[in-house]
Amino acid sequence: MEKIASAPKKLYMKTYGCQMNVYDSDRMSDLMQGIGYQSVDVPDDADMVIINTCHVREKAAEKLYSDLGRIKKHKAKLKADGRQMIVAVAGCVGQAEGEEIFRRAPVTDIIVGPESYQTLPDLVGKVLRDKGPQIDLDFKPNNKFDVLKESQEKSQVSSFLSIQEGCDKFCTFCVVPYTRGAEFSRSVAQVYNEAVNLANKGAVEIYLLGQNVNAYHGLDENGDVINLAKLIRKIAEIPQIQRIRYTTSHPRDMDDELIAAHGEIDKLMPFLHLPVQSGSNNILKAMNRKHTRQDYFKVIEKLRKARPDIGLSSDFIVGFPGETDQDFKDTLDLVEKVGFSQCYSFKYSTRPGTPAADSAKQVDEAVKDARLAELQALLFSQQAIYNKQFEGQTFPVLFDREPSKTKEKSMGQIIGRSPHLQSVVVDDKDGKYLGKMINVKIIKSRPSCLIGEVVL
Ligand code: SAH
Ligand code: SF4
Ligand code: F3S
Repeated sequence: MEKIASAPKKLYMKTYGCQMNVYDSDRMSDLMQGIGYQSVDVPDDADMVIINTCHVREKAAEKLYSDLGRIKKHKAKLKADGRQMIVAVAGCVGQAEGEEIFRRAPVTDIIVGPESYQTLPDLVGKVLRDKGPQIDLDFKPNNKFDVLKESQEKSQVSSFLSIQEGCDKFCTFCVVPYTRGAEFSRSVAQVYNEAVNLANKGAVEIYLLGQNVNAYHGLDENGDVINLAKLIRKIAEIPQIQRIRYTTSHPRDMDDELIAAHGEIDKLMPFLHLPVQSGSNNILKAMNRKHTRQDYFKVIEKLRKARPDIGLSSDFIVGFPGETDQDFKDTLDLVEKVGFSQCYSFKYSTRPGTPAADSAKQVDEAVKDARLAELQALLFSQQAIYNKQFEGQTFPVLFDREPSKTKEKSMGQIIGRSPHLQSVVVDDKDGKYLGKMINVKIIKSRPSCLIGEVVL
């Protein structure tokens, strides 16, 4: 009998957190496509809603519950029309809070963690067969990557590729080792094949991802351990791939081979995000970062020797328990000495279950606010100085982002990325440069972006 094609079901996803969560969301959408769901932009009448959550700082859970509160209304409205909406919570809050989410938000049908979402199609099937709420929080990264199929979608021109998951470092402020589990590297063949698939489907830039991506130690077909530097070399052999980046790196795992790669592999872009967190050795020790400020300076010096024009970025936490005025000054001093091109900075946020949360030396909120403002002012001025030097220069820009609904679109502009990962804005009323790598001459610089003209 001839099958009657049914209309695809609608999947709405909302993603919080790091690039790895963005990668995971794409994989979940691939999985759901396999069972007949197609992505939509609004949750209102979606057959399935997935909220992919981040637990790294406070208010993550509150955000989730307020999202679920809104979803509950849509779900009730759909039910009144005789339709079912399945609501899934994925990601790191799902992993950390588990069953508690069913209790606080009974609208939830499914909870999966970042290392177990491959079972989503099964769990959806169970919910559809009225088997009640479903939860899967097992750590099985190996199984996850075996189950995930090659994406059939057209690739993003700049595509994420997770190569390493989890973390064994246990910094005393951080939830990631608990939500993502032990460190795990995918095999070289698996990573390479995925990169080839992405390239064949349109990717020209590959962003290698991991919580500690430079701790990568995957096995090749002979069973030999391959480090990140060697993996980058292999991916650089794929002809369509013109740019390679990786994030996030830990200063302790910046080995000499990887540093040298920055001077030797043209496709490896001249930019590195290398979080230091603090410039004070006392605080670094209390954070269990396993490196000193001197170690950090040494790595930076070697990187600049290998690739003099490398742009550097970092994450900072201010107001970690016990941070004194002097400790904070050491952070400002480190920033002055290194000279960053762009950075992220956060107020320390107590995370339940992490050692630093129990410290009696919590820093006053007002002090944290003042320190964050001072640090951000310094970082902002560094970024302005950094960007200024590019005025008048011409270089290839990869226009990787759809114009947002914000002012750029209404002004007929699009945004791309420079080799040094700056945002570059050009006029392009009909979006003809979108998805392309094009030479741009920089006319003006701003602290947060460069403004240029296409050079044809
Ligand atoms: N694996 C990466 C980043 C993990 S989380 C690394 O080691 O650098 C991303 C960033 O969030 C961290 O670099 C840190 O600056 C910030 N962060 C993590 N836990 C935090 C906390 N409890 N409070 C404030 N910021 C935090
Ligand atoms: Fe968190 Fe530290 Fe691991 Fe980074 S290295 S993920 S900050 S525990
Ligand atoms: Fe957040 Fe989990 Fe990434 S806690 S930063 S989504 S690893």
